[in-house]
Amino acid sequence: MGKVYVFDHPLIQHKLTYIRDINTGTKEFRELVDEVASLMAFEITRDLPLTEVSVETPVTTAKSKVLAGKKLGIIPILRAGLGMVDGILKLIPAAKVGHVGLYRDPKTLLPVEYYVKLPSDIEERELIVVDPMLATGGSAIEAINSLKKRGGKNIKFMCLIAAPEGVELVKEAHPDVDIYIAALDEKLNDHGYIVPGLGDAGDRLFGTK
Ligand code: PRP
Ligand code: URA
Repeated sequence: MGKVYVFDHPLIQHKLTYIRDINTGTKEFRELVDEVASLMAFEITRDLPLTEVSVETPVTTAKSKVLAGKKLGIIPILRAGLGMVDGILKLIPAAKVGHVGLYRDPKTLLPVEYYVKLPSDIEERELIVVDPMLATGGSAIEAINSLKKRGGKNIKFMCLIAAPEGVELVKEAHPDVDIYIAALDEKLNDHGYIVPGLGDAGDRLFGTK
């Protein structure tokens, strides 16, 4: 069964409070999501393999470590996942970015796929699917289905806020996928919104309604 990691780092928790705040405007919301995505990327890359190289310092020759060149792919779920991409790329600039476009039908709450464009070698890459919200879990499950259908094997899912119901469904549907969360909230309401949550992530990021 996939593991669930909740990042309780003080900086992440602090910024998340202002992301939740209804009084935080679009510009600040976007900046905060970007910053939290960077901080989460720092944690999620903790296990990246290293290799030893020689480096000439001004004093001597030293043995030192560099990343072993593992191939990564960042896969935002459109739209709201886009808000997390730049923050991750600041730390992992060589990662390729694929896109999965899904929207949640407001009546059925089921995800509808409208766009998929992925790096051609996804089967060789460690893929990090990103979306600020994991609510019913339908979008995460569908996005991961979409990657697996096209050869994706090594997949992680990263979000800001998740509902327990959605996390359970993702774990059942994709037991090979670890889930990384900044906050595990209380529940879903009758409209499929996370409580307390942050509202509609896409609308808050892009200033739509
Ligand atoms: C939101 C969010 C997730 C999805 C989560 O997207 O960004 O993708 O809902 O809900 P689920 O876990 O119940 O599937 P939305 O469908 O509102 O589209 P948007 O990003 O284009 O606003
Ligand atoms: N999508 C959002 O943007 N917010 C929620 O609370 C649930 C789904």
